[in-house]
Amino acid sequence: MQQRTIGSRKVSAIGLGGMPMSIEGRPDEDRSIRTIHAALDAGVTLIDTADAYHRDAGEVGHNESLIAKALSSWSGSAADVLVATKGGHLRPGDGSWTQNGRPDHLKEAAKASLQRLGGDAIGLYQFHRPDPDVPYAESVGALVELLDEGVIEMAGISNADPAQIREAQDVLGGRLVSVQNQFSPAFRSSRAELDLCAELGIAFLPWSPLGGISRAGDLGSRHDAFAEVAKAHDVSPQRVALAWELALAPTVVPIPGASRPESIEDSVQAADLELTADEVERLSAETLD
Ligand SMILES: NC(=O)c1ccc[n+]([C@@H]2O[C@H](COP(=O)([O-])OP(=O)(O)OC[C@H]3O[C@@H](n4cnc5c(N)ncnc54)[C@H](OP(=O)(O)O)[C@@H]3O)[C@@H](O)[C@H]2O)c1
Repeated sequence: MQQRTIGSRKVSAIGLGGMPMSIEGRPDEDRSIRTIHAALDAGVTLIDTADAYHRDAGEVGHNESLIAKALSSWSGSAADVLVATKGGHLRPGDGSWTQNGRPDHLKEAAKASLQRLGGDAIGLYQFHRPDPDVPYAESVGALVELLDEGVIEMAGISNADPAQIREAQDVLGGRLVSVQNQFSPAFRSSRAELDLCAELGIAFLPWSPLGGISRAGDLGSRHDAFAEVAKAHDVSPQRVALAWELALAPTVVPIPGASRPESIEDSVQAADLELTADEVERLSAETLD
């Protein structure tokens, strides 16, 4: 598969998002493991997770443990796979998502994530979401300590605006390797962050790149332009969406979620789908309702 760069690592241009396999509506473990194995067999070398990808209270890290299990039971070489996890978001168990960006929490959470994932260090650790109660520089400062202590190999941020990207890059002394923000045909307001990352040479990981778990399936009926380009290439509109995102900048690495092998097997083929400049322009210009 086409390769892209995150910091010092080359990864598949299409990654796998682990969230649908651990939150509400998740499949049984056997199907999840088959989904992760299908991604790995197809050449995926980037898997995105978070300690907060779980359903009930008391199962923090469900998705990290699932990924660790799938990697250890896979027949290929897991050493080539970059697992990107996150900390700073919490799920108390009532369906809500809360924040804790205190440095002490982030440092403890990262160590707990490392325990679940195994290995000597976390490949990529991302600060999940700014905490309004904690100065951003203090939260990002925890990533500096984690890097210096060798708990994490690379540091990233998520749900950040352009000012926060610049601040994080400053606090990290130029060691910020990735930004993960929401971006899809339906949600384009992170375009400024996508463009800034391209300018700074930082990887940009669009989250919910197909519009999110509940809307991804009917992307084509929500976006005529994507459906039409898909028809012209005889591929799925989801594949077109991912190919469009890849075409926006060489620093973009989408992480579509999946809970079925067929979904990720289709998505990875976006890395081989070449859209014309006219098609990319048309998809970028699509007017949203
Ligand atoms: N940083 C953050 O704050 C944040 C927030 C949300 C998500 N994320 C990350 O981003 C990842 C992706 O986002 P997401 O999972 O919310 O939404 P998404 O990737 O937009 O949509 C996921 C859904 O798309 C379906 N799908 C995938 N490929 C498909 C294809 N080729 N054709 C048809 N359907 C397809 C899957 O269906 P099946 O389930 O049927 O396979 C899956 O449930 C997450 O898994 C998570 O790792 C990060």
